[in-house]
Amino acid sequence: MSRLVIISNRAPSVDGASDSGGLVVALKDALSKRGGLWIGSAPAASEDPSQSIIMHERSDFDIGLFELEPQLQRDFYLGYSNSVLWPAFHGRLDLIDVQPDYIRAYREVSKRVARMVAKVIGDDDVIWIHDYQLIPLAHELKKAGLTNRIGFFLHIPLPDLQTFRAIPEWKDIAGWLASYDVIGFQAKRDVAHLIDIFRHTLNGELRFNGNMSIDGKEISLGCFPISIDVQGFAAMAAETSRKVEPPALPRLIGVDRLDYSKGLPQRLAGYEHFLESNPGYHCKVSLLQIAPPSRDDVEAYKEIRAELEAITGRINGRFGTVDWVPLHYIHRSLPRNELAALYRYSRLALVTPLFDGMNLVAKEYVAAQDSADPGVLLLSQFAGAAEEMKEALIINPHDPQGLAKAIRRGLEMPLEERRERHEALYKRLADNDVSKWSETFIKQLELPVSTPAPEA
Ligand code: UDP
Ligand code: G6P
Repeated sequence: MSRLVIISNRAPSVDGASDSGGLVVALKDALSKRGGLWIGSAPAASEDPSQSIIMHERSDFDIGLFELEPQLQRDFYLGYSNSVLWPAFHGRLDLIDVQPDYIRAYREVSKRVARMVAKVIGDDDVIWIHDYQLIPLAHELKKAGLTNRIGFFLHIPLPDLQTFRAIPEWKDIAGWLASYDVIGFQAKRDVAHLIDIFRHTLNGELRFNGNMSIDGKEISLGCFPISIDVQGFAAMAAETSRKVEPPALPRLIGVDRLDYSKGLPQRLAGYEHFLESNPGYHCKVSLLQIAPPSRDDVEAYKEIRAELEAITGRINGRFGTVDWVPLHYIHRSLPRNELAALYRYSRLALVTPLFDGMNLVAKEYVAAQDSADPGVLLLSQFAGAAEEMKEALIINPHDPQGLAKAIRRGLEMPLEERRERHEALYKRLADNDVSKWSETFIKQLELPVSTPAPEA
């Protein structure tokens, strides 16, 4: 079996400490089973960065880190990656901050990483690059002479052509994507957007086998919905929940990096409407919102934090009593085993993103439930997960009244209906866990390239 080399900006911590964020969580599960090498950026920038990958051997898989100097790191990560690509790919053109230094740093990082990676890659290695921070990397690796097959998986949504064209470098990005051999997305909507982008930008042609042909090169595109280690997570939830007390009041839960794409103000607006229109539920339920800090040097993230703190204060000030706090807000990261127990003891999960690649929290919540008395998942129609998780209560996060009604419906849903929905959701999850996700993608990546037949 050839060695799998994963390359992403975010890598798991070398000491195995808790990591949050869907990319690391899913890939850690996938790579632990197969082994291989994971290359990612060092946790801290260095004034005198090494020009080589720094290797750390572990029993499950090896980790290789690349270092960047602080200014380059800032312009690449906080700048182009998270102030241009992240907002644009999530449809928030109002939040884009275009600066010449940002794109320069973005290109430079892929060039440098390619130089370092080329030194540690063997001829038979299968290279799998992840996410928006490193889109130009295959182009740079091929320029450096590598002939390995290279796959790319986008963990976040790909916007439609019109939105995509708002990024000044949109043509370059399309070209960089066309350097890959296999491109995977979370949802069908994203595949459709890439086909459109390739057609309009690079005269790409869709072939009968679903591949795209660009300048005689064939690129395989597909939807590979990411998942979790379903059985492992379910067992962890059952185990850890035995060690903690169930909450005194029925609990609603939300777990999200503090990000404007997660629809947190909209979620709280729905909860506020629920409390306003259902006084009978006062002192009878509470909402626990866990929202660890994320990218907090970017202005838009500072703003969403201030907004959330203000709404939390307003809701608790408006409805709280001496004995009842309607909304608990935790601005820290919790280890996943603790989350698993919290999910299991929650009657309802609120997953309300305005746009999301997949959303693993939705899957974790379902996996963590007690099948004899499961809770209810409220899921935004704009999460990639909504394409698969049809038995959730699908909601529109922009409609606070609708959300308030769904909260009530979820809390009052009869046991039989909860069980039916949960059984269907769990079964589909268990049939499509994270190992299947990575195996299916890697199988596609290892397939020989089919050369398009010459036109008649
Ligand atoms: N997570 C965690 N601790 C926290 C909050 C989140 O370990 O305090 C994990 C969560 O369990 C999930 C991941 O971070 O596995 C978030 O993935 P998701 O796809 O929901 O969102 P992303 O952060 O990738 O946008
Ligand atoms: C999402 C992105 C990942 C990213 C993660 C955490 O899952 O798709 O690429 O690693 O968020 O964000 P961070 O900026 O902390 O790496």
